[in-house]
Amino acid sequence: MSIRPSRSPLVAIALPLVVAVTALVPTTAAAQDEGPEPTPETEYRQSLMISLQHHMRALGALAGGDVAFDDHLQAHASAIEGIATMAGDAFPAGSGGPGSRSSDSIWEDWDAFLEKLEVLQTGAAALNAAAQAGDMAAVEEARGQVGSSCRGCHTDFRLREPIGG
Ligand code: HEC
Repeated sequence: MSIRPSRSPLVAIALPLVVAVTALVPTTAAAQDEGPEPTPETEYRQSLMISLQHHMRALGALAGGDVAFDDHLQAHASAIEGIATMAGDAFPAGSGGPGSRSSDSIWEDWDAFLEKLEVLQTGAAALNAAAQAGDMAAVEEARGQVGSSCRGCHTDFRLREPIGG
């Protein structure tokens, strides 16, 4: 009598996979337990901010000559201006709360917040105009302006830790 295991090759592949996926489940659940569930507005706002960061990084790599995809420059600049414009809609009154790093002072001191937002929007418009015109000196200048607008606003209006985290 043979005691050779009679598993099919498919089972031999699938079984370890199921085990691996099952092993992941408790980790994911634990990670979610760590913080409160953000509102859809907060998640959307954070998506915009992360997109902004990534387009700025990609644009920096192009402008610094780290990569040679020169024809991508305009698309990143255009996205940055678009996101800066959309960011104006992304802070509806009272939309902070769990999981958000938006300070209440945004809504308490809305005019001061708008000033910071305008620095971003003005810089992003200049950046896009310079990129479309192919004026690299102006791109560099506007990139600096946009970059400092991030810190300018985060210092006053972004909390160190998410609310409830
Ligand atoms: C007018 C204010 C303002 C400007 C300008 C601004 N941010 Fe933010 N940013 C915020 C606030 C407020 C939050 C916290 C959002 C939340 O969690 O509700 C944030 C969050 C972020 C986050 C974290 C997102 C997350 O998932 O928690 C990143 C990354 C970020 N910003 C990048 C940038 C970059 C890059 C720039 C500049 C190109 C920029 N921001 C400009 C206000 C601003």
